[in-house]
Amino acid sequence: MNPLPRLFGYSRPYRGRLAAAIAAMLIYAAASAGVAYLITPIIDRVLPGADSLPYWAWAVIGAYLLKGLGAYFSAYLMTDIGQRVVRDIRNQLFRHILDQSAGFFGRRTSGQLMSRITNDVNQVQQAVSETVGDLLREGLALVGFAGLMFYRDYRLALVCLTSAPIVVYPLIRLGQRVRRSTRRSQEELERLSHITVEAFTGHRIVKAFSAEAHEAARFDAASHRLYRTNLKVTSTLSLLPPIMELLGGVAIVGLIWYGSQRIASGVLTQGEFTGFIFAAFMMYTPIKKLSRVNTNLQQAMAASERIFEILDTQSEVMERPGAQPLSPLRHGIEFRGVSFAYEDGGAKYILRDVSFPVRAGQVVALVGLSGAGKTTLVNLIPRFYDVTGGAILIDGVDIRDVTLRSLRAQIGIVTQETVLFDDTIANNIAYGSPGASQSEIEAAANTAHAHEFIVTLPEGYATRIGERGQRLSGGQRQRLAIARALLKNSPVLILDEATSSLDSQSEQLVQEALANLMRNRTAFVIAHRLSTVRRADSIVALDRGRVVEIGRHDELLARPGGVYAKLYDLQLFDREPEHPVESAFERGVVKTGPSA
Ligand SMILES: Nc1ncnc2c1ncn2[C@@H]1O[C@H](COP(=O)(O)OP(=O)(O)O)[C@@H](O)[C@H]1O
Ligand SMILES: [Mg+2]
Repeated sequence: MNPLPRLFGYSRPYRGRLAAAIAAMLIYAAASAGVAYLITPIIDRVLPGADSLPYWAWAVIGAYLLKGLGAYFSAYLMTDIGQRVVRDIRNQLFRHILDQSAGFFGRRTSGQLMSRITNDVNQVQQAVSETVGDLLREGLALVGFAGLMFYRDYRLALVCLTSAPIVVYPLIRLGQRVRRSTRRSQEELERLSHITVEAFTGHRIVKAFSAEAHEAARFDAASHRLYRTNLKVTSTLSLLPPIMELLGGVAIVGLIWYGSQRIASGVLTQGEFTGFIFAAFMMYTPIKKLSRVNTNLQQAMAASERIFEILDTQSEVMERPGAQPLSPLRHGIEFRGVSFAYEDGGAKYILRDVSFPVRAGQVVALVGLSGAGKTTLVNLIPRFYDVTGGAILIDGVDIRDVTLRSLRAQIGIVTQETVLFDDTIANNIAYGSPGASQSEIEAAANTAHAHEFIVTLPEGYATRIGERGQRLSGGQRQRLAIARALLKNSPVLILDEATSSLDSQSEQLVQEALANLMRNRTAFVIAHRLSTVRRADSIVALDRGRVVEIGRHDELLARPGGVYAKLYDLQLFDREPEHPVESAFERGVVKTGPSA
């Protein structure tokens, strides 16, 4: 399907400007034809001295002036429309991408998505303002010149214009080639920005593994492919002007041969023939521009196809029509026969028949080996993904029947990787609570044990923390994330290994902050610390996506051979600080020595 009509649909709100631009183009076309028209009287009457010069001189200057004004205003207005259209598309695209489910982001790289928003949208801008402007303006000018040619000698004009398709056909073929190469070139550019983003954001790991040469080699290879593809585009594009000129030369020779016969037989005056040739010559600029129009349109088509492909991707997590807001949690949350696979229709189920109830105000600890599906399970609650089978109910209401906004408003999340924005501390804490006052922000920071370190920073709460909070320590970042969740004050809380990346000193503070955060909330906790798990109202043990045990710490520990007892034995939780620390070696879990 041709994406251009849809693309130009975006200019509909700017119809008024478009009409003005077209009026300017009509003036341009008429004035251009006027210039060619004036040649005839100048040669036949002014040069032999039959007419006075100034009258015609003013006419020529006036025609050029009108032509210039028409060109200026049409270009200005078309650029304006193009920039507006592009702004609208870019905004829509950004919003649409953000609305996608977590699965969408899992399947694409950020480099790819960024390239759509920047490069592809830029190409579309060029198409809308320059190319469409050229197409209309030069198209109208051509009509003007053709009209004049018919007026002067319709037979000669017919011959000239019927031979035009011979010129146009190779241009169309070349255009198709350019379109294919351009699409490939954009894809190479996406790959390049993907490598760049990955290497720069992961610069520490790159350095730690001395992988600079490896990354540079990857970049070199991608660069080279981009160069090869771009060269192909350019070589195709460069073929056009010489082809055009050659064909033009052939046409001129034919015209002069025929014209000299018409003048000899007295059908045309010299002035009329010169005017005809002049009009035909003046067609060169519009034709040259129009020949580029096709390739530019092809490039724009490739770019807009890629944009529309994203815009047409429906988020897998969608709000049902007529979804109602979820009222604040009162009774509890229930997992009812939940199964889940990341691939749509895939056979690899990460969760199978997971069922357990959680009463409001309870703390549920999820335990299980790495890869058991704990993170996947909690990601289903705010609908980052939708369940494949079964349902999650909040107060008996399927979470797929309520608005996403009201659902997510009730859920606070703190994960192992804290996500902070390049903004001030205060704004990071108030992220998601835009109306919060300074004292509310400070209260949250206090409870999260973040206030102490914030006031030691040079600008306190107004300190900017750098991209992803790079200027803070892991524990400080974590406490900011907790303060953010505290301020949001949502009834449901998800803590996914919120302390696992911390050293023991900052962990102590973070633990206290988390305890404050969990107070009076329904919490899902994935923790590697026994103290947290022990205190939980209920422990759900997962094994390869199945719930294998549910109960309290003492109950589960009393089951010999149970999964929880095994996890406990394997020391997959840290030991209680108040208990004597006995190493895994001493407990015989990890055997040492050559005989073992
Ligand atoms: N985005 C994803 N796409 C496909 N598979 C995934 C994705 N995230 C996790 N998985 C798979 O799901 C399983 C469970 O992962 P996860 O829920 O993160 O486990 P846990 O948090 O218990 O360590 C793992 O086998 C993992 O490979
Ligand atoms: Mg996990």
